[in-house]
Amino acid sequence: MLNIVLFGPPGSGKGTQAEKLLEKYGLKHLSTGDVLRAEKASGSDLGNRMAEIMAAGLLVPDEIVNEIVKNRIDEFAGKVPGFIFDGFPRTNEQALTLDGYLKFVGSSVTLTLFLDVPKDELVRRLLQRAIEKGRVDDTAEVIEARVVEYNTKTLAVAELYKAQGKLHVVDGMGELDEVFGRLTAIIDNALATA
Ligand code: AP5
Ligand code: MG
Repeated sequence: MLNIVLFGPPGSGKGTQAEKLLEKYGLKHLSTGDVLRAEKASGSDLGNRMAEIMAAGLLVPDEIVNEIVKNRIDEFAGKVPGFIFDGFPRTNEQALTLDGYLKFVGSSVTLTLFLDVPKDELVRRLLQRAIEKGRVDDTAEVIEARVVEYNTKTLAVAELYKAQGKLHVVDGMGELDEVFGRLTAIIDNALATA
């Protein structure tokens, strides 16, 4: 399987690029943020319980997201050429759990693509998205909290992948297609040498 972790701070373009990548490579998109927002929209117990944490820009507990990911892997492994993990893993615990789940289905993370975007641009993009899409966590105050969570809990996950030789830092600035070209060059190279 081709399993890609799309990594990066809030607003770095993970969701945007995931949409383009899954079209090109036929992968299954797994955005834990999207699943949690869908839970909230459905009015489920889980969604309601997590809504407050998400609205504050804090990470939801590992057990909750791990369960979501486990269910998706169980459902789709063997039926799709691979997964794009978007916004997961966000803690070392999640990364280790993901390794275990993938190992169980005879696979592993192929590549981690780190979208590198400076903070002032992240804030600019997310405040712009607030106008267009109205995501409740796209306010100046909550964006700040999300960036702090990212810097204190998530950034270290990149070191795990770096140690495994799987981390590719990609410049996330520029036009969508330019960034997409940088990502596909890395993926195509990995596929050619696999
Ligand atoms: P999640 O939904 O994952 O949000 P996020 O990581 O904060 O990232 P975003 O979705 O805001 O940004 P993105 O990188 O996808 O960028 P996008 O492509 O949209 O998580 C939300 C919450 O859920 C978390 O805070 C947490 O509470 C919870 N959660 C989720 N996963 C969790 C986990 N694993 N563990 C614990 N809690 C979890 O782009 C942003 C904007 O920029 C868009 O408007 C886009 O059009 C624009 N844009 C994109 N690329 C470019 C470009 N190249 N140039 C200009 N504009 C661009
Ligand atoms: Mg996203």
